Amino acid sequence: MRDHSEETRHVYHQQHLRVSQDSTTMERFISMFTLEYFGLEPGYFQKKRVLDAGCGDTAKLIIALYRLGARDISAFDLGEDFIPVVRANLDRYGVPQELVRVASGNILSIPFSDQEFDFVACHGVMVHLNTYAEVERGFAELARVTKPGGLLYTVLGEEGGLWRDCLYPALRKYYLENEAFRGFVDKTTPEDIARTIDFVEEKMRELEGSDVNLSFLKPLLDLDLLVTLQNICQAPVRIPVSEKQHIGMYLDNGFETPQRLRRFIKRKNIRRYFAPLHYHYDHPLSRLLYGGGCLEFIARKKGDGRHTPDRDTF
Ligand SMILES: C[S@@+](CC[C@H](N)C(=O)[O-])C[C@H]1O[C@@H](n2cnc3c(N)ncnc32)[C@H](O)[C@@H]1O
Repeated sequence: MRDHSEETRHVYHQQHLRVSQDSTTMERFISMFTLEYFGLEPGYFQKKRVLDAGCGDTAKLIIALYRLGARDISAFDLGEDFIPVVRANLDRYGVPQELVRVASGNILSIPFSDQEFDFVACHGVMVHLNTYAEVERGFAELARVTKPGGLLYTVLGEEGGLWRDCLYPALRKYYLENEAFRGFVDKTTPEDIARTIDFVEEKMRELEGSDVNLSFLKPLLDLDLLVTLQNICQAPVRIPVSEKQHIGMYLDNGFETPQRLRRFIKRKNIRRYFAPLHYHYDHPLSRLLYGGGCLEFIARKKGDGRHTPDRDTF
């Protein structure tokens, strides 16, 4: 079996460096995590010990958890390169450094003690492991560090759909095979896109008349979108996981009543027009594009003597 973890880390290090410099994309990411989304009551995070497993460099979830009230936050990812970027982002977004413990570590062997955390988050990490067996191992590790009565929040990829099954692999294949496309994906900036739009506008005016105005296109093709394209093309591996398997991992690891979460993501680029379909994943066109939708779950670990019938009691 080939180990992709070093390449995966390198790819996301580069992407996260770009995102870290763009406040619009950073704010979009940070605002994705709300108490309402998690189904938690105000004040939940006060006095809770929380972990962001596979945090990446942007620190987006750490910043979001701080804004939601967390004051004892731990995070880890592979290697060490991400640490100074995380630290710089904490400064930039006003999170006191002393509240955040940042470690180098692997989700397959999490560098923290059993039952250490009240809230464990793992966002977009496990689909990038090497095999489904590793996803199961990573999940068991997340369960190990969660306290009885604590919550485990995990986001895997989409379950099927045209994008996941057809367009992602086609774009990835072309990226690997075609040098010009690889250069476009790796290097294109929003300024390059703006210049191309100006060129097309000028040529259209020559060909169609002077009332052509394409300025509306520029904000629709922003850095956030270019990084999304990089995410699709550059990630070396994406392990498919079904909703049934995702729920099964919670139940097998001692969690009760996993709740599926969904969020409406306010976007500024062209994905804005797809966002309602992404949210209402039962719509026929949504099912065609996104299959079963993005798998996002939260569940409470059994063992604190409490029974959790539904998410309102989290
Ligand atoms: C799509 S990024 C998500 C980062 C972050 N959770 C976020 O939502 O911005 C995937 C992350 O998973 C990390 N990762 C991949 N394999 C890992 C492993 N075995 N242990 C820990 N982190 C891993 C990568 O280094 C990368 O930062």
